[in-house]
Amino acid sequence: MPGDTVRIALQPLGETFEVPRGTPLQDVLFAYGVEFPCGGRGRCKRCRVKLLEGALPVTPQEAALLSAGELAEGWRLACHARADVPLTLEIAQWDTAILADDSTFEFTPGEGLAIAVDLGTTTLVGQLLDLSTGHVLAVRTALNPQAVHGSDIMSRVQFGLTPGGAETLTRLIRERMGTLIAELAAAGAGNCPVRDIAIVGNTVMHHLFCGIDVEPLSHVPFETERGGLEVIPARALGWDVPGDPPVRFLPCLGGFVGSDILAGILATKMHESAALIGLIDLGTNGEIVFGSRERIVCASAAAGPAFEAGRISMGMRAATGAIAEVEAVNGELRCRVLGNVEPRGICGSGLVDAAAAGLELGAILPSGRLANGERTFRLAPPVALTQGDIRELQLAKAAVAAGIQIVLKELGAAPGDVERLYLAGAFGNYVNRASARRIGLIGFPDERVKQAGNTALLGAKLALFDPGLDLTGLLSRVRHISLASDAEFQEIYVGEMGFPQR
Ligand code: FES
Repeated sequence: MPGDTVRIALQPLGETFEVPRGTPLQDVLFAYGVEFPCGGRGRCKRCRVKLLEGALPVTPQEAALLSAGELAEGWRLACHARADVPLTLEIAQWDTAILADDSTFEFTPGEGLAIAVDLGTTTLVGQLLDLSTGHVLAVRTALNPQAVHGSDIMSRVQFGLTPGGAETLTRLIRERMGTLIAELAAAGAGNCPVRDIAIVGNTVMHHLFCGIDVEPLSHVPFETERGGLEVIPARALGWDVPGDPPVRFLPCLGGFVGSDILAGILATKMHESAALIGLIDLGTNGEIVFGSRERIVCASAAAGPAFEAGRISMGMRAATGAIAEVEAVNGELRCRVLGNVEPRGICGSGLVDAAAAGLELGAILPSGRLANGERTFRLAPPVALTQGDIRELQLAKAAVAAGIQIVLKELGAAPGDVERLYLAGAFGNYVNRASARRIGLIGFPDERVKQAGNTALLGAKLALFDPGLDLTGLLSRVRHISLASDAEFQEIYVGEMGFPQR
């Protein structure tokens, strides 16, 4: 019935809004910064919401994934729930959890407010935190305005080398982030002072935000001397924030491996773990880190844009009309299209699935060639993969697989020694683990691979709650390997270009 709406209240945010009755929660909560790490497939439990008022009938997926105790307490999966009646919900993701055991972290209560920001190449997301309770009081997201000057980090670096380019990029991001911080600070009760602001991001974002020359990042060995902790008073950035807090951009780990991965180490507790743990964030650059409390090694593999469906003939973002999942069932292809509309293209997770399904069906050979002299691998009309598309995927997956091998070798470890591998970032969250293994992207058993959501933001929050955190001591245990100047990398990379035989 038109105009028939229900009210949703989010706690402890205090946000309320109206939505059409029957709206899937996934559709509305995403706009409030809630992540759906497994793409709403009902596998990860990380979209849990607690029903404080209203009614959400238990679905079969929830009955299978949540314990009887959790269901009785009111926990539901936002990716499987619809707003049929007015609801008051608590969002589990806004509890700061340690990923290693999914427990809420312990902290010494502080005073006042603090802000954590994940500065991504495409988006930025910030959270306002109450240091006395650990609660998230507000969440804001925004697009990175630098994107008009290039969508990936290398095009930002190139623009940064043009006259006035770097200054433009620095100004754009400082202004946009200043607005986001002001909105978050205004959401705090009574104009309370903000004590601290922690920002994490990749090395290019770090340099451009802090006003550091990006020239060393434009050529081999892509190393920079100036990747350390930068502390700038809010006022010096032109920001009017109550309390004029220090703005800390956490230090990079080396090369293109930035503080987003440092934050991932904190979120996974890799630096305190007796067992070997890995974290991989896949995008145009595949950032790879493995280690334990003894030693940590990281690297960045230039994967190219295939995981984001860039340079794929019918590639597109994971939006309505994108084939996001492909399966081979009884010799037939089954495609799931986002938004239940006619297919328009294919996104990164669909591409990995399609290659895995093509290998299963024998339509794609282990060499990557299309079988029987076919020119395309037809998925769902009009969407098909070309030989060139498969080649792009091979280049991307070979770079990451070779990077993983080099890092493990440096640690003197084998894949079987890795107790847990976390996949971070958007692509890592949506990719099907079995398909990633089938194409040779990630050669770890599915049960050891965990999709981890935004580890960068989580780690930034942990840093805020632990002012005594010994970052210098942690950094001294991290070694960065430059794959571009590693003699063995090329050889392993070429060897990884094919797909594994069954
Ligand atoms: S279970 Fe809901 S997003 Fe994963």
